[in-house]
Formats: sequence, C-alpha cells, structure tokens
Amino acid sequence: MCGIVGIVSNKSVSSSIVDALKKLEYRGYDSAGISTLNKGFIDEKKCSGRVENLEKILFENPSIGDLGIGHVRWATHGVPNKINAHPHSTEQVSVVHNGIIENSDKLKKEYESKGYIFKSQTDTEVITVILTDYLKTENLIDSIYKTLNKLIGSFALGVIFKDFEDVVVGARRGSPLAVGYGHNENFLGSDSYALKTMTNKISYLDDGDFCLLYKEKIEFYNFDKKKINKKIFELSNEENIAEKGDYKDFMSKEIDEQSYTTKKCIHEYLDQSRNKINIYNIPINPSKINKIRLVACGTAYHSCLMAKYWIEEFTSIDVEADIASEFRYRNVKLNKDDLYIFVSQSGETADTYAALEKCKKRGLKTCGIVNVVESSIARLSDFVLPIHAGPEIGVASTKAFIGQMMVLLLLTLKISKDRNDLNENNYKKLISEIKILPSLIKKTLSKQKEIQQIARDFINAKGTMYLGRGYSYPIAMEGALKLKELSYIHAEGYAAGEMKHGPLALIEDGMPIVVLAPKDRFFEKTISNMQEVIARGGKVLMITNDTSEILNENIRFKFQLPDTDSRISAFLLTIPMQFLAYHVALLKNCDIDKPRNLAKSVTVE
Ligand code: M6R
Repeated sequence: MCGIVGIVSNKSVSSSIVDALKKLEYRGYDSAGISTLNKGFIDEKKCSGRVENLEKILFENPSIGDLGIGHVRWATHGVPNKINAHPHSTEQVSVVHNGIIENSDKLKKEYESKGYIFKSQTDTEVITVILTDYLKTENLIDSIYKTLNKLIGSFALGVIFKDFEDVVVGARRGSPLAVGYGHNENFLGSDSYALKTMTNKISYLDDGDFCLLYKEKIEFYNFDKKKINKKIFELSNEENIAEKGDYKDFMSKEIDEQSYTTKKCIHEYLDQSRNKINIYNIPINPSKINKIRLVACGTAYHSCLMAKYWIEEFTSIDVEADIASEFRYRNVKLNKDDLYIFVSQSGETADTYAALEKCKKRGLKTCGIVNVVESSIARLSDFVLPIHAGPEIGVASTKAFIGQMMVLLLLTLKISKDRNDLNENNYKKLISEIKILPSLIKKTLSKQKEIQQIARDFINAKGTMYLGRGYSYPIAMEGALKLKELSYIHAEGYAAGEMKHGPLALIEDGMPIVVLAPKDRFFEKTISNMQEVIARGGKVLMITNDTSEILNENIRFKFQLPDTDSRISAFLLTIPMQFLAYHVALLKNCDIDKPRNLAKSVTVE
C-alpha cells in the first residue's frame, strides 16, 4: 500500500514526480523519496513523514534529471524512518516497491553470503541487490526477468538504472500499476489518478507483466518474457475530477456529495418511469442461483453485511457475507451454482482480489461491485457493477459505502423480481422509497450541526459502543469503524441484544453510547436494550425516525431522521455516523483525510 511513480521525459522530472506523489499520498504517508538519473549517477533523496518534507529537501537541493522514480510509503517491514524509506539504491540500480516480498529474509541471507551488505530493514532492498547482481552478467531484460522469478509475494515496482540512461522499468505481480502515454514522455503510476494531470491515456499491467518505458515508446512483456500489446484506455473527465474545492478536507466533501452520488447511482440502474432495474448479464440465471456469497474488507464488508439482511428479506436465496482475508484461506465449499460478489471501492484490495482469484480459478460466477472501473477487481470479475460515486480520496470511506449499499440493494431487488420472490406491491413500494432517498439524504445532511454539538461528549471517552438490531446492526458496526479510524477512540458495533451477554459490563457512568433505533419491527426491543444501558449510567445518543416524546428525559440527545421505509433506513442512519466520527476527529485535531497508520488502498495482505 505504497504509491509508486516513474517518469521518463525530455525535460526535468522531479517536480512532476512530487506532484504525482501528492496524489498518491492516500496510499501511504509515513515516508517519501525520489531517485533521478543525473549525468550517469543515481541521485536518491528521501525522508520520513509526508511528501511536503521531501519537497523541502528538494527546495534546498534540487534533483536534476529527465528520468526518475518516486515513492510514498506505508511501512510493512521496518519502522518509517529515512533509511527504510524508498527508493532503495545501489550505485547501479534504484527501486521503489509497493507490496511485500515474502521470501526476503531467505534472499537477504543468500546475498549476504555473496558479500552484499544491506542497509535497511525493508523487504524491498533485496530486489535492488538481486538486480544489481544479475546486471553483472546478464542483459537488462534477463536481469529483470530473473529477478522477478526469484521473488515470492506481491509487488509493483519502479526501477531506474545507472547504465540504461533512457529507461524506467515497471513490473507487477498482485499490486496495481498503470502506465500513461505522453508526448515525448511516458509515465508509471500506482493508479491513473496519480497521472491525471500528465495524460488521460492509460494502460494497465496485468499480473506477471513488466514494461520498459522510453521517451517515445513503451514495451510490454508478460511473465514468459514475450512481448505483448496493451489496450489503451481513455480516462473520462469524471476520473479527472478529484479536487477538494472549498471544502476543508476530502471527507467533508465526500459526505456532502452523497445525495448527488446516490441520485446518480439510482439513475444508472433504475428506469424510473417504468420502475425497472436495468441490471443485465448477471453471470448466472437469477432463478438458478443456489446461494450468494458476498466478500469484502472493512467498510465494504459492512455493505455486504447489510446486503445479507436484504437478500434474506427479499429473496429465497441462502446468503453469506465473508471478510476477504478469512475467505481466501478458509476451506469454503465453493459451488458452481452460487453467485460470488466482491465489493471494493478501490477495486485493488489485496485480500478481496485474492478471494476473487480463488473463485475465478475454480471457474465460478463472479461479480465485482467497485468504484474504480479500471481496477484489478473490475478487470478480473465476470460481471462488473460500478457504484458511480466518483473518486473517493479520504481514507475513511463514506460515499462509496452508500453507493455499495445502493448497488447491492438494486441487485437484490432485481434478482428477487426475476425469481418472483417479491410481490409486485412490495417491489413498487420499495422502488418508490428508493426514488426519494436522495432528497431524504439531503435533508439528513442538512442537520450536521446537531451532531457537531454532541461530538464533544465523545472526545474524552475511554471507549464507546454503537448498538443496533436487524438492519441497523451493520450500520452500528460501520459507525464504530468510522469513529475508530478517524478519532482513535475505541468503539465497537454490537447487536443490541448481545449486550447482556458480556459487553454490558463495560458500561460506566457517563459513557457515551450510540443507539440506532429506527421505527422498525425491532424498535421496542432496541428501546429495552437502550434502557438497560441508561440504567447503568450510559449517556445515549439516539438516532431514530420515531417522533414520540416519552423517552426524551433519559436520553442525552435524540437525532431525528426523516421518515422512510424501515428496510432501507440504513442509508439515512449512516449519515449521522459519518458526521459523528468526523466532528470528534476534528475536535481531537486528528488528520481527517489521512488517519494514522492507515492507507486508502490496502494492496498488501
Ligand atoms: O477499497 P476497498 O473498498 O476494498 O477497501 C476496503 C477497506 O480497506 C476500506 O473500506 C476501509 O475499511 C476504510 N478505510 C474504512 O473507512
């Protein structure tokens, strides 16, 4: 989960590399570095911390050269200090790496016995050393090929060489890598967004590919060392729009966009005049689906949990939701009559990709629900449903979650309709509620100030709990995840009915507790669970569309949601969860878009 850039040009490259690194900072921001080739020697500069630290170094001591590589790091091997920052260079070779080399310890020992000395604690340095060693006896292509074959693990690489003054090399296995085409210059980047100001013509490396970038051409090779051609994609304007504008941070912008992005997503999939859901080419006939398996990580997993409730409610199909890092290694009984759905904002999450690969290898029917349509998961899936949320830059996922839920809901209703599992009236009722959701989201967004006021209750809390039942339970989990990642306060999402089986012991006088209590068939039960918490000193923030007054005296604060069909209340419940995490983090002076220890795109296991 680091970011890689490479540029070969007919002009100085360092400032363009730094600009691209800034766009990749969402992938990692604990150290940064750059190497350029300057009059036959490799000029490496690096530092711990953000790209702005690297900029300061370059301001004092500019890097010169028409060709170079850059890196932002999310540490896997070795603390985030200057020595462990990338690039890792010898006199001959300089390497930037995203991913993990699993056999690095073994390789280190092998090359130490040949007399090589390692400076860092990283797994990456072995790549530099192996390449340097091969170059003593082999030509460039064979050195790359043989080096790649020694590596076990996942990686995307960018490499420059002292003796090959006109080439930047890129390689991919498991971690994403894009190349961009320019005039008399070509580019390498961990994603197309990093290259957006330089080009809108992009190709993607597939697993096992490597490429040689020259000023005027790009050569691609596959894992067999055979020259191959690549499809060139032209990026749409939308992919080029990812600026903060007047917003303080990306997260507040992305929260605010949710009414619009939901509207757009509905528009893409729903023929509103005929109430028809336009999702075709499902890789398995809906009436023949035996089981649906949903697989994802983090927030995307929570959207799968939500879909589990919907699939159970609206269809007669058996359903499971799995965390990808578990699913990929479990002895899951895979079946060709099941539909496998992989949900990922980035489309690059290593565990989700590996789970998809596992299913693809068995010839199973796969569907990818992604935001980034050129992503690895989109390209590998049999069938792709984009969520149309537009670029999401804040590490905390917000509008993508709403988009994932919307696509999963529409897919569920489509399958349900095709199987005659849902009666016409019920279907029509849900569709009409979906149509007005964007305006209800807008209404909920306008109540941000109320949550801002209550946020202060949480800043000194030792911990908190989010409670919900039924459809609200996945949202409670998502709310807790959001608070943890943004404000570093311990938070757990619990099924409210589980409290008395242990967690109730944690409630102390004054502990802030969030209770999600939409007026659904669980409402009374949720209220009883809430009373149990209040009786033990819990200070409750209640989120509900219930308008009765009776409970008010016991509740610290009641956030009033607009009324909606309780089966889709998740969309509205999510918004105060996002605001709460955002405002608590803001009050605690946390970095909203780049929470500590995290990265947006998790391309390592
Ligand atoms: O790109 P993906 O949706 O596959 O990412 C999955 C998780 O890493 C992601 O949702 C993560 O949990 C978010 N930072 C949560 O806000």
